[in-house]
Amino acid sequence: MLTPARVLLVEDTPTQAEIAKAMLRDFGHEIRHAENGTDGLALALEWQPDAILVDLLLPDFSGIELMRRLKAARVNAACIVLTAHGSVNIAVEAMREGATDFLLKPYAAARLRVTLDNALEKRALRQALDTARTALGRESFGGFIGASPAMQAVYRTLESVAGSKATVFITGESGTGKEVAAETLHQASPRRGRPFIVLNCAAIPRDLLESEIFGHVKGAFTGATENRPGAARAADGGTLFLDEIGEMPLEMQAKLLRFVQSGTVTPVGGTRAEAVDLRLVCATNRDILAEVQAGRFREDLYYRLYVVPVVLPPLRARGEDVLLIARHLLQHFARDEGKRFKQFDAAAEAAIRAHPWPGNVRQLQNVLRNAVVLHEGEVITRAMLPDLLLQGAPVMPGPPPPAPAQAASATAAIEPLAISEKRLILAALEHTGQDVPRAAALLDVNPSTIYRKLTTWKKEA
Ligand SMILES: Nc1ncnc2c1ncn2[C@@H]1O[C@H](COP(=O)(O)OP(=O)(O)OP(=O)(O)O)[C@@H](O)[C@H]1O
Ligand SMILES: [Mg+2]
Repeated sequence: MLTPARVLLVEDTPTQAEIAKAMLRDFGHEIRHAENGTDGLALALEWQPDAILVDLLLPDFSGIELMRRLKAARVNAACIVLTAHGSVNIAVEAMREGATDFLLKPYAAARLRVTLDNALEKRALRQALDTARTALGRESFGGFIGASPAMQAVYRTLESVAGSKATVFITGESGTGKEVAAETLHQASPRRGRPFIVLNCAAIPRDLLESEIFGHVKGAFTGATENRPGAARAADGGTLFLDEIGEMPLEMQAKLLRFVQSGTVTPVGGTRAEAVDLRLVCATNRDILAEVQAGRFREDLYYRLYVVPVVLPPLRARGEDVLLIARHLLQHFARDEGKRFKQFDAAAEAAIRAHPWPGNVRQLQNVLRNAVVLHEGEVITRAMLPDLLLQGAPVMPGPPPPAPAQAASATAAIEPLAISEKRLILAALEHTGQDVPRAAALLDVNPSTIYRKLTTWKKEA
């Protein structure tokens, strides 16, 4: 036998309880006894037993219900279900609710001992594994690479919320992995076999957004030649990722709110609301609370969506992760481009480590892809990295930034941020021959950011 354990018995029939208690006492365990589900739950919370023996028929609620409540209360004991002959199906259901094993009544002492020992051993192993995992941290999780404490916290949140249907709201600078987080969450959830649908609210013209999300019926508007289901219907049973939700126009926000409240979808031009079952994940690189305060994002919708926040730290706050990711990317790009590169030299690693990476992982990808494409060899040296990395200057086409000595006189050149921003975007567009995706890559922003700005400026003009 293993070391003595704390065993809680939840059993209402006095004779059965006496038999079980005698056996358990014989095994050397410490025992407590509850006669109904309510007392059992209270005792489980207060006493934190190692194992719980649950009778399936209790006077107040069923043993299955007790299992559910124990799970919800995160009681982390090994549960064994006791059932009379003939109710094996219910025992199977109990296993689904988290029971480790079940015993058919009547059972012999030897059978109880083996079942209980196995359950306790399983629990001890699981605990040891959890402890080791938390202590060591993980170097990757789903689509993420990274072992920093900041990322461990992200992994834990994603993992603990994966099983629920709660809406997850992801924020973080551009290129920090918001889409990776959404997909990782989907893959870690019970919905993983079902669709993961991404809809970028910034990339879709505003008059098409409603039909993209909710679908339309034939004839709803010019060009609607067929019925179309839309993203929400397509995501039924799975996950709908609304990317760049901060860009959603107010009138569309009202429609989204209605959907979130009702759980039903009415296609554009349609009259029938249809129920859909989906997990909603939203992301933005804006400060969404500031958007609410500025009246650009509905407060009621914000409260509906901002249920479980996931904040992705910028790459510069992740310590050594930047090198872990860089090494991984180097292998990937070398394979992809048919090159021999295997590693970085120490100076290259130091430069990568020191750079602030305003464009985060996406910028790191661009820099390394370029280095691999443009050079040959097995080792990436510091000289193969772009100059900007060596000077710590931002990635920007156009004239070099003023030297520190000129800084005082440069005060005169200070202008509103919006104007500098416009100038830089236009310069990047000119530099790339009006190629928006390439300009966006140079500026480390999402192409949709540039499209959006261009639309605004056109309107202002
Ligand atoms: N921790 C990571 N490890 C490996 N790859 C990563 C990691 N984080 C992000 N990436 C990669 O970096 C790129 C950018 O990630 P993603 O598109 O998820 O960022 P984002 O936050 O959605 O950016 P944006 O705000 O610009 O839309 C993707 O190719 C993604 O696979
Ligand atoms: Mg994104």
